[in-house]
Amino acid sequence: MDKIRIKGGARLRGVIPISGAKNAALPLMVASLLTDEPLTLSNVPALADIAFMADLLRSFGVRVEWTAGTGSGQGQGGIYRLQANAIRGSTADYDTVRKMRASFFVLGPLVSRLGLAKVSLPGGCAIGARPVDLHLRGLQALGASIDLAQGYVIADAPAGLKGGEVVFPSVSVGATENVLMAACLAKGRTVIVNAAREPEIVDLGNCLIAMGAEITGLGTSQIVVEGGGRLHGAEHAVLPDRIETGTYAIATAIAGGEVELTDTSPDLVSALLDVLAMVGTEVSSTGTGFKVARDGFRPRSVSVNTAPFPGFPTDLQAQFMALMATSEGTSRIRETIFENRFMHVPELVRMGADIKVEGDTATVAGVPGLKGAPVMATDLRASSSLVLAGLAAEGETIVNRVYHLDRGFERMEEKLGRVGADIERIRDK
Ligand code: EPZ
Repeated sequence: MDKIRIKGGARLRGVIPISGAKNAALPLMVASLLTDEPLTLSNVPALADIAFMADLLRSFGVRVEWTAGTGSGQGQGGIYRLQANAIRGSTADYDTVRKMRASFFVLGPLVSRLGLAKVSLPGGCAIGARPVDLHLRGLQALGASIDLAQGYVIADAPAGLKGGEVVFPSVSVGATENVLMAACLAKGRTVIVNAAREPEIVDLGNCLIAMGAEITGLGTSQIVVEGGGRLHGAEHAVLPDRIETGTYAIATAIAGGEVELTDTSPDLVSALLDVLAMVGTEVSSTGTGFKVARDGFRPRSVSVNTAPFPGFPTDLQAQFMALMATSEGTSRIRETIFENRFMHVPELVRMGADIKVEGDTATVAGVPGLKGAPVMATDLRASSSLVLAGLAAEGETIVNRVYHLDRGFERMEEKLGRVGADIERIRDK
């Protein structure tokens, strides 16, 4: 398995183009199941999870054509042309869904298009139990009958889905996306109450509108879909990755220097940028993104709670903790979305951080410096936090199990290397 080696201490200076968002691209690819015409997606990042989703769609008979990108950012990302004109299966098996939870997104589109879908229950994962009850409740509200047998969800709606009111007791990004896609082919009006407001939902909704769907309320907690019409092909550019954006903003705050992030928008990460301003980082908008700078003083500790959008994203919690590990003062970081998302803590502690976890809160007493060490993490964002910690640490850090990073960050070592980080990938022979 590949590793990443970082020699800490280099300041960052230059430009990092931001790729298309993994968590937008995954449901967008699944939306191709809703029509027999081609859906063409541009600005798709080259990531392991994306290739995996393409394979899953191929297994249903979707024709997948892929043109590799020439780089990152708008106009340079990959292009996927997906055409589901001859669907020949409706089962996603355990091995598939276990490897990538986003496979569960196919449930709604398949049952709405074919009247039947069988998708394995994902099981727990490294960051928490992550049940799918809200996805199932949502589809039941649209008239699907749901059976659980031998670890599979069987969703059945032989006469098609019907619009209905879906009231989510708590906010779920994935359940909102699953129901939003299904509602487009369900006859009549669907109202999703307490819908997630993440930019990835808005991006999916905009693509569905381009495919002919009637949707209002995107970006608010109540989405209304007038469903039942036929969807057609469309072209859509995937929105910039706000988690990649935030990760490189935090990287600059940790390492010091000045980096311009292009092909993105400060609006996607405003909760983070507010906090980075309190930390003592300078942030200024540019026409195509924004600049982050920190020079000559130590970051200050700030406490944060993760929350659904527009709150502080759980997917940036680990990276922010790496920054707080070297800040002046004590920070309390409360994780309110997932119950087990502190796996990076023992690894950061091995690098000299002073962090104590009690329940859902990590108390981070900033230390003047971290020390390089061999480390590894069991999920994608935790792995990225170890790379960031390595940028600030004295000496060499080796991050093992880089395949986690490759699931969600496009060529991280190249992007950081180009702005001056001393970083390289050690390929497994
Ligand atoms: C999405 O996961 C993202 N994944 C996650 O990205 C992200 O951390 C998460 O949203 C929160 O922002 C994709 O978009 C592919 P949720 P999702 O449903 O949809 C509970 C990354 O690193 N819940 O909003 O699975 C759940 O257990 C990741 O890229 C239920 O109880 O998240 C969690 O505590 C990992 N029942 C909370 O809701 C359900 O049916 C929010 O989860 C569904 C969720």
